[in-house]
Amino acid sequence: MAGRGLEPGCVRVESLFVATLVHISDLHFGRPAVAERLDALKGFIAEIRPDAVAVSGDLTQRCTNREFSNARAYLDSIGEIAPYTVVPGNHDIRWLGAVARNLGLAGLFREQAHKFKYSRYVRHISEDLSPSLEVEGAIIAGVNTAHGITRGSITRRLRDLGVIGQVKHADVMRVRQIFEHAAPDACRVVMMHHNPVRGPLSGRHGLANTEQALHAFADLGTELILSGHDHQDAIHTFERGARGLIISTAGTISNRIRPGRASSFNLVEIEDHELHITAYAWRKGKDFMPSEDRTFLRRTASRQA
Ligand SMILES: [Fe+2]
Ligand SMILES: [Fe+2]
Repeated sequence: MAGRGLEPGCVRVESLFVATLVHISDLHFGRPAVAERLDALKGFIAEIRPDAVAVSGDLTQRCTNREFSNARAYLDSIGEIAPYTVVPGNHDIRWLGAVARNLGLAGLFREQAHKFKYSRYVRHISEDLSPSLEVEGAIIAGVNTAHGITRGSITRRLRDLGVIGQVKHADVMRVRQIFEHAAPDACRVVMMHHNPVRGPLSGRHGLANTEQALHAFADLGTELILSGHDHQDAIHTFERGARGLIISTAGTISNRIRPGRASSFNLVEIEDHELHITAYAWRKGKDFMPSEDRTFLRRTASRQA
């Protein structure tokens, strides 16, 4: 990938290709979904044949069986091209029916409410709400951050009730185990629905416990976080001493775009010393085209330098 600009202060070294991930989010099957864009995305995936497709939630708009059925069919067609992994988003759960369980009201109906909340996702997509996928060169640990209203995500901002996400301690512990068992040189990637960095246009954090979660994942040696939810593509870094995190927030494939923005997804190219993220934005009547490109020196390379 010669010719790409490194982040300031980084020195380029010889870098070999390791793995390619297509990171997509917020498909919102239902009224916001646009067949033309979904077809173009599938065409892109078929053309580049990535090592994995990472889908960071909000498959549906209203969590209906019909929307899930269409999402499932689409994921199946993607799965014929490349392995994919997916986590639920806040639109994919029936959180209103599970408030009592989430708030821990003496355990009443706790189990039933939990099943109800994820029932349609489980029926159509997967029983595993936090799956992991390891491919040559990368391990992607999925974290379900869509819990509806919980003790940890109660907010005074009414518009965020049931919307904001949370990283639970048990999931951090699970990611630790997954990373411990992964190939030593695999790039450690965490995928979750909610954006851990404030959206540039929305001004909103997706997570209730952003700082805590980012520090925890940095401590586990995570190099890259994949998220969605904000409906605006963005690439950020989070510094914690020598343990920097790169955060890829994919935009939405649907037409629920923010003013002045386009539907988009991110292409992640991992090399042994560098990591490249390219945002692809929808150009009306044409196709998804590269719109922003950033290159980072990987932490593994920093240690060797
Ligand atoms: Fe969304
Ligand atoms: Fe969302």
